[in-house]
Amino acid sequence: MEQVMKNFFLFLSKNKPMTKLAKKYGLRFGAGRFVAGETINLAVDVIKELNNKGLFVTIDYLGEFVDNEIEANEMADQSIEAIKAIGRENLDSQLSLKMTSMGLDISDQVVMRNMRRILKAAKDNGVFVTIDMEDYSRCQKTIDIFTELRKEFDNVGTVIQSYLYRTEKDIEDLNEYHPNLRLVKGAYKESPEVAFPDKKDVDDNLKKIIKMHLLNGNYTAVASHDDAIIEYTKQLVKEHNIPNDQFEFQMLYGIRTERQLELSNEGYKMRVYVPYGTDWYGYFMRRLAERPANVAFVLKGMVKK
Ligand code: FDA
Repeated sequence: MEQVMKNFFLFLSKNKPMTKLAKKYGLRFGAGRFVAGETINLAVDVIKELNNKGLFVTIDYLGEFVDNEIEANEMADQSIEAIKAIGRENLDSQLSLKMTSMGLDISDQVVMRNMRRILKAAKDNGVFVTIDMEDYSRCQKTIDIFTELRKEFDNVGTVIQSYLYRTEKDIEDLNEYHPNLRLVKGAYKESPEVAFPDKKDVDDNLKKIIKMHLLNGNYTAVASHDDAIIEYTKQLVKEHNIPNDQFEFQMLYGIRTERQLELSNEGYKMRVYVPYGTDWYGYFMRRLAERPANVAFVLKGMVKK
């Protein structure tokens, strides 16, 4: 049953008419639990609150699967606005963004032009930028964009998903760039031809790549709400004397908030991924797919309206 619900929400996450409707009607159905608000000013307030509690942040102006150049350029402008706000308000925040929002599906030229101006503005404001990883069909392209940009900028990283069979090789191949990588399980619906269908294999592979990347001496963001993964990382760094400034934990805004504070209070660097903006629908559906129990929040949200 859980798998059916998961597939249902992942199917809904790609529904364009629903995305349009959601933009039009604003944050609803309990999505405010996972999204900081629709404007940068609301996101800034949330970042300040998190920073005051000792938590680090990465913000994401929500948007994906953009199919025209004007919109892609506008998305890049919004990310630059966010970078300037981080600099102006002296916030402890990085930026995350998706290549399909920068024009990946339009042309190489559009996406590279937008990324270069974002990374330049980020550099000027001391902001690190992480390129989120999307579905399998865009994985190679995203890695190519990352490696190209990494040659020009040192303030860019990307994400690797442990559910993909190709991942171990990606970690090996990327090592020459000494990349700052966020390691995750993966949030999209993928076929068993390219991704492990069993959760146990996905979990084991995440442990495997965390170990590889850390022992290669690279900065590693372990982005998971899973206590087994967190405990594994804690043991690993202890065993191998890996310093606390070579890794961090990351979690999503609104998920396991208490655990975020606990880890921070234990002395670990804890970064919260804070999404904001009007294009909240796809992000929200993926969060529901990860934990259909969250549907209870949706139902409560509907009753309240
Ligand atoms: P898992 O799904 O096994 O969950 C472990 C436990 O965490 C659950 O039992 C539950 O207690 C809690 N939990 C997990 N999800 C929850 C939810 N939605 N609501 C409430 N509780 C929940 N993916 C991707 O494909 N590309 C990307 O770029 C990113 N980026 C990214 C950044 C950050 C900071 C995080 C934390 C995650 C991502 N992800 C991602 C998402 C990631 O791939 C994955 O889908 C989720 O993190 C869920 O997997 P977990 O590792 O948390 O474990």
